[in-house]
Amino acid sequence: MISKKLQDAINLQINKELHSEYIYLSMAAYFYSNDLDGIANFFSVQTQEEHFHAMKLFNYLLERGGKIELKTIEGPPIDFKSHVDVFEQTLAHEQYITKSINELMDMAIKENDHSLVSFLKWYVDEQVEEEATASRLLARIKIINGNGQGLLMMDAELSQRTFTPPGSE
Ligand code: FEO
Repeated sequence: MISKKLQDAINLQINKELHSEYIYLSMAAYFYSNDLDGIANFFSVQTQEEHFHAMKLFNYLLERGGKIELKTIEGPPIDFKSHVDVFEQTLAHEQYITKSINELMDMAIKENDHSLVSFLKWYVDEQVEEEATASRLLARIKIINGNGQGLLMMDAELSQRTFTPPGSE
């Protein structure tokens, strides 16, 4: 059985992952509206990743005999200043999620919940990848600096992204 304090913290993290899904859906919409369907595809796949992150926590909490308490999902940003702005917000958001996962890990360590510590290691590693991807794409969109040819190349590359549930590749 998991403690009430950790249960609450996991429920909050589920909400943050679902909010992430919502944010990336809004970003996908922005790029679809700007006729960059490949970059939109990247964000669309990201929504699936975030849903996976939420469901992994959801299933874990149930396995531990915890209670799922779904909360209201905050609305995402809907207006973006530029393509660069979207990627800046992506990186900032992933840094925020990393901080949140680290705080959850700190709580699990403090409570000596070895199972949760082991489970959260997956998220700690996943966040390294999430931040690295966001950082790389931000650097590239800055280099492109509105250049049409560069944008179309990035768009073509990101159109190839597909969702593979981690563990099944
Ligand atoms: Fe679920 Fe993008 O972190």
